[in-house]
Amino acid sequence: MTEHIYGHEHPESGEKREGGFALWFTGLSGSGKTTIAHLVGPELDARGAIVEYLDGDTVRTHLSKGLGFSKEDRDTNIERIGWVASRLVRHGAAVICAAISPYAETRAKARELVEEFGPFVEVYVKASVEECARRDVKGLYEKAFAGEIKGFTGVDDPYEEPENAEIVIDTEELSPEESAREVVAKLEELGLVPAAATA
Ligand code: ADX
Repeated sequence: MTEHIYGHEHPESGEKREGGFALWFTGLSGSGKTTIAHLVGPELDARGAIVEYLDGDTVRTHLSKGLGFSKEDRDTNIERIGWVASRLVRHGAAVICAAISPYAETRAKARELVEEFGPFVEVYVKASVEECARRDVKGLYEKAFAGEIKGFTGVDDPYEEPENAEIVIDTEELSPEESAREVVAKLEELGLVPAAATA
């Protein structure tokens, strides 16, 4: 077992900056992963973290360009995100990953990659298929239900619910802002980010 140092000094201010970790959002398409991720990021930034985002939709335009939605391709996508996250965590970044990541075993693989260098905090962004379909932000559920898209997660492709996620956010109950606050509060509780400075 290697010893890991989770804190280091800020190069300019000399302030102690907490060490790297990955915040891994998983959940159905339209559950709110990206929205919450982008509300949490600035909060972490304000607390001195170096924040990077690895969002499925974005990653699929370059790092995972050309991959589809078969189990094999999804696994490759998630392993790539996990691997890149692990490299950034190694350098002290707070890496915010947001991808459906439907398979438990593959999420566990990403966890294993990251945990070599720092904590992996899994956030299950929970919303039923019915609710995601009602929101249908991208109009994809309508197409999936009409059979125009095959193998859509939650419709005719699996989503394995996390059983031991560090954080579970019920987005049918909480607003995106409330959800983000819960995530940040949990990160404070875990000692991964300092509490917000009081003015
Ligand atoms: S993952 O399964 O590999 O983790 P990822 O999060 O990168 O998926 O991409 C999911 C996004 O791709 C969805 O939010 C949606 O916009 C789009 N998408 C296109 N086809 C599918 C599909 N068959 N299943 C799920 N999402 C799809």
